[in-house]
Amino acid sequence: MAIQIKSLEELKIMRRAGLLVGQTLDLLKASIKVGMRTDALDAIAAANIKRGGGTSNFKGYHGYPATICISINDEIVHGIPGNRIIEDGDVVSIDCGAIIEGWHGDAAFSIGVGKVDPADQKLMDVCEESMWRGIAAGKQGAKLTDIGHAIEEYIKSQGKYGILQEYGGHGIGTEMHQEPHVLNFGKPGNGPEIVAGLALAIEPMITRGSAKTKVLSDDWTVVSQDKSRGAHFENSYVICPDGKPFVLTALDGGASRLNSYGISISNLL
Ligand code: MF3
Ligand code: CO
Repeated sequence: MAIQIKSLEELKIMRRAGLLVGQTLDLLKASIKVGMRTDALDAIAAANIKRGGGTSNFKGYHGYPATICISINDEIVHGIPGNRIIEDGDVVSIDCGAIIEGWHGDAAFSIGVGKVDPADQKLMDVCEESMWRGIAAGKQGAKLTDIGHAIEEYIKSQGKYGILQEYGGHGIGTEMHQEPHVLNFGKPGNGPEIVAGLALAIEPMITRGSAKTKVLSDDWTVVSQDKSRGAHFENSYVICPDGKPFVLTALDGGASRLNSYGISISNLL
């Protein structure tokens, strides 16, 4: 399928979906506590998406059984909520999406719960900053692989982290996963041009060790082979018709983080 270019009217609906995802993740961030079951967080997300007039795009996706993915420590992405209890010092990654009027949002964050190892905090900070640098690099007129290049360059400048190779970002719109696939590494200057109306989910996934992963017998949970801890951050963003970016899943549209690179966000959404 070709890359889907969205009109301003369509982007306005996508913003509603993205905002609901951002608000749901904010609520989960405020709710997560040591001693909590992971499926209690799933229930909070499901109720909030319903309250906001949306539906889950994760539930039923290739048979996925829940509203969020929750991945702890050496689990990097696609962990299934259940009876696992969150423990002191855990690195918890939560991924969530929603649909409003047929348009999708998708975002994720990692957080340390309780007393956090400083090396884990650095892992998460590096992952988050690399996501913002990827979004900043994906400006109008840039080429798609400029994004992954910026992500990889930043991560490599911060230490020895594994960047997952088998998973990456993606176009997003009337489906959660659309073309193009967005690698989190590679040479700049290749691939399609970043143009107005292109919406992308940018989602670096890194570990404190090797980038090698395997999928557990539940057929979903992606873990590091060397048991090193992982982090995952994701936002969905778009280039608006005025040529400026807008981060659909960030409460402030990405203003504060992008302004720190001298980038102003669109005021069309
Ligand atoms: N939201 C994930 C992504 O970032 C995909 C989740 S898979 C699902 O692309 F099955 F949980 F939906
Ligand atoms: Co995604």
